[in-house]
Amino acid sequence: MFKDFKLIAGRPVYIQVKDYMRHLIIKSALQGGQKLPSTRELSSLLKVSRNSVISAYEGLEDDGFAYTVQGQGSYVSPGAAARSSEETTPWTINWTERLSGQALLAEELDIMKRGIRAEKGTISFTSIAPDERLFELDQVRRAFMERMAVEGNVLLNYGYAKGYKPLIDYLKQYMEHKGVDLHGKDLLITNGFTEGFDLVLSALGKRHGAVLCENPTHHTAIKNLKLHGFGIHGITMERDGIHLGELEQALMEREYDCAYLVPSYHNPTGIVMSPEKRHSLMKLMQHYGVPVIEDGFNEELRYSGAHVAPLIAAGGSGNSVVYLGSFSKVLFPGLRVGWVLADQELIYYLESVKRARTIHTSTLDQSVLYQYLLGGNLEKYLKKARLEYKRKYELTLACCKEHIPYAALSGDGGLHLFVTFAEGFNTRELLAACHAQGVIFTAGELFFTDGAGQNTLRLGFSRVADEDIVKGIAIIGKTARTLMGE
Ligand SMILES: Cc1ncc(COP(=O)(O)O)c(C=O)c1O
Repeated sequence: MFKDFKLIAGRPVYIQVKDYMRHLIIKSALQGGQKLPSTRELSSLLKVSRNSVISAYEGLEDDGFAYTVQGQGSYVSPGAAARSSEETTPWTINWTERLSGQALLAEELDIMKRGIRAEKGTISFTSIAPDERLFELDQVRRAFMERMAVEGNVLLNYGYAKGYKPLIDYLKQYMEHKGVDLHGKDLLITNGFTEGFDLVLSALGKRHGAVLCENPTHHTAIKNLKLHGFGIHGITMERDGIHLGELEQALMEREYDCAYLVPSYHNPTGIVMSPEKRHSLMKLMQHYGVPVIEDGFNEELRYSGAHVAPLIAAGGSGNSVVYLGSFSKVLFPGLRVGWVLADQELIYYLESVKRARTIHTSTLDQSVLYQYLLGGNLEKYLKKARLEYKRKYELTLACCKEHIPYAALSGDGGLHLFVTFAEGFNTRELLAACHAQGVIFTAGELFFTDGAGQNTLRLGFSRVADEDIVKGIAIIGKTARTLMGE
């Protein structure tokens, strides 16, 4: 005994001694009523200071694992040892047999568990996360310190389901500056877009059980729609956004609960819906009475052209658009802060759903983000990030044009480009062949609602070094040509 004690760096020694002794008690290596080694003895056995052992024994006593007899020493509490040494037959349950259909489906749709892993040295175009090297840690640190100094104690206590009030007010103004009429609307803070979408889908009654969306679309959205039991009808994408003729046809054929749309820097195509199309789209949706869930996740990553107002702005004082915002691409996905801006009555109910599910989004995260935004850091960061991403976007675009034998190429901004090859070409085969040469990307099929898209792929460039963009795309292009028999 006591030979396997190993100190780790960064944790107080007395706590490590206490944890070690407690472990021995729980495992019945030390029995109830047994005398513990004297502090002098244990300090020499474990090669730690006597003070550390004294503090460890005090801790064991505080936690009810040991007691002291005046003038005699410390003993293992009988209760602690007896509880742990009880002879019990291990009781095992087969949890997979008891899983819900929802859990099984979630696992089945979990691409993180199925995708190709990027080994060290692989050039990976699979991510569309921001490049963390652009994050300005000093500003985040300062925002944290400033907010903690102002109201640290309050921030660490429970907060409100609706969100941190200063951030709510900030975001309302932020949305007003995008041209949104806030009349009759309210805002709820969420754990990113994904929770916002989940909350809205939870709150929506399944009157028709079906949702419209662009085809292809964001894989997480498809997954959540399926998990909520909605049927999905995807509408073809054109170079300027969703195909309105096809959309109208679908609207004429049956009724839908809502439409999920990503009008700006759509994932995966990177397409920005034209202002004219946005206008016609809203008229169409109004005509058929189908509300819109607008995903505005990437709006700020515009590199050229004029600002295009979100659909919710086009809706004026109407309440038919539910806008889901996120700072995951624009700033820090790790903070998990997003928001829902929608009709105030709907937000009233979403607030209760949110409270029942997660109580609230971390107030610490919200308040640090608020302080960061208040200090004008987003504007400064965006200036820098846009420049860098635009440079990478143009490099990726140029490399695609030079090397890839595509049939169509799209991406008006954001952090990715979408490549379509001629019908019959298979990007899974291309992926396997490129993987063997140390290059991976996302085969486009998983973004499609109807099993199509075998001839497409998405290239995320935000976290790929310039030289790897050049090298990786050359390999993809050359391999594609070989597969095409050129
Ligand atoms: C279309 C779309 N919406 C939203 C998000 C962001 O989701 P979240 O805010 O949950 O990180 C992403 C991330 O990739 C996305 O592709």
